[in-house]
Amino acid sequence: MKLFLDSAHLPDIEYGLETGLIEGITTNPTHLSKEGEKSTELLKKICALMMPHDVSIEVTEKNALDVYNQAHRIADLAENVVVKIPCMPDYVPVIKKLVIEGIAVNITLLFSVVQGLLMAKLGVKYISPFVGRLDDIDTNGIELIQDLKKIKNIYNFKTEILAASLRGPLHVHQAAMAGADCATVPPALFKLLLHHPLSEKGVLLFDQDWKKLNMQTFP
Ligand code: E4P
Repeated sequence: MKLFLDSAHLPDIEYGLETGLIEGITTNPTHLSKEGEKSTELLKKICALMMPHDVSIEVTEKNALDVYNQAHRIADLAENVVVKIPCMPDYVPVIKKLVIEGIAVNITLLFSVVQGLLMAKLGVKYISPFVGRLDDIDTNGIELIQDLKKIKNIYNFKTEILAASLRGPLHVHQAAMAGADCATVPPALFKLLLHHPLSEKGVLLFDQDWKKLNMQTFP
């Protein structure tokens, strides 16, 4: 399962790259609204930093024709751009056209198996089921990932399942167990993933014992 960072914050993206664990970025208008920099310039920097890994950038227009034109402008920002388009009926012809034209598309705000199936039939690169937002309304978000994976295997579709809206390490664990192709995590969650109280306790205990030897140099 590839790990993406769900963020537009440059220092977090730089840290993620240094770890060698981050293989893509997903952004959205909410992330961009938190950064104190002009979005176009910031996104160009993120794309350059992440090359050749994918950077998802979301459309902000509403009317289908405007979405289509904006999708092209977004795709022209860099070679590693994936255009993020909400899963809405009005945009289906636009999505189909963009896919035929060779634009990489990530379908965002996807909440059902049938939405996933239909978008995969269009040949988009990614579908992004939102796990946490389903949990928020008392619906099991991880089950959606599991069901999409079954459908993917039955029909052998190429579209990658990008588990999104993940809120804690258990979501990442469950998305991996369900066979998600990728998982996008916010920076705070990414930092949490490697922590374990027993690892930290173990380091402390070994250190205390080691100091009893009172060695100046080793080895
Ligand atoms: C994914 O592409 C989205 O940007 C993101 O995962 C949304 O997460 P949220 O539901 O925590 O806002």
